[in-house]
Amino acid sequence: MKINRVSQFFYSPTHNTEKIVTSIAKGTGADPLHLVENNLTYPGYEETLIDVEAGDLVIIGAPVYAGRIAVTAIERLNGIKFAGNPAVLVAVYGNRNFDDALIELRETAISLGLRPIAAAAFVGEHSYSTRDFPIGKGRPDALDKEKARLFGEQVAKKLQSLKSIDKMPALALPGTFPLPERKEIPPSHVDTAPNKCNKCGECLPACPTGAIFYKNGYKTTPELCTICCACIKVCGRHARIIMSEHVKGFTEMLAKTCVDRKEPADFI
Ligand SMILES: Cc1cc2nc3c(=O)[nH]c(=O)nc-3n(C[C@H](O)[C@H](O)[C@H](O)COP(=O)(O)O)c2cc1C
Repeated sequence: MKINRVSQFFYSPTHNTEKIVTSIAKGTGADPLHLVENNLTYPGYEETLIDVEAGDLVIIGAPVYAGRIAVTAIERLNGIKFAGNPAVLVAVYGNRNFDDALIELRETAISLGLRPIAAAAFVGEHSYSTRDFPIGKGRPDALDKEKARLFGEQVAKKLQSLKSIDKMPALALPGTFPLPERKEIPPSHVDTAPNKCNKCGECLPACPTGAIFYKNGYKTTPELCTICCACIKVCGRHARIIMSEHVKGFTEMLAKTCVDRKEPADFI
């Protein structure tokens, strides 16, 4: 099969998934004019979507939250119309583990009529990572991006060698199937420390779920916050703070236990 266009769909609050998906897309060798980016991260993303065509290779990428795919990513992917396209599945995790995330992405893709032909798990700096408690600091780095590019190259070779994707065997992936119940993430949210905030407003557009609003200072609707930490990463004054001792303790534990560098894993 020949690649016509590469349609990328990613949800990526702290931009790691975006970096990996775009590197994979480039690696396919498709004409740069035929690399289509659909960023599902921000409210209003629906207005910028480019329709998928029958000849497109689709890449879907999302971060791992609690061993699964971030719920917001699944919800947004579920609203997209695909055209029976071959698909590459990408989960990006914070150097702990991707557990059942690729299985969930595979099942989501199949339910949307996509035909998964390859999958990969890559590492990105953990959303909770801080200067004092680094977890996967600086990932994805140049080596990760090169591996993503090489993976894209392999995907293109596989696709070119296929006569048809209709009789593809199911893509075997690590994880539990059928998927177990999703683990509850203890309720928590990120809020502003008024004494540190200079009201620059950078945090508001960084929020993928519209959880931040302005009323005598930047505040958060707790029920909308997914603790993705995008607002923390853009705040130059360290004024956005996780309001949970549990998450703080968990971050310290991860910084102690997830020290060894994990390498990308691909399934092709
Ligand atoms: C709520 C939450 C849960 C997470 N759970 C996991 C996890 O189970 N395993 C892991 O390795 N990383 C986990 N991470 C880290 C993210 O997967 C990682 O930082 C990823 O690179 C974020 O992708 P993005 O930059 O595209 O948003 C979690 C992050 C958040 C915010």
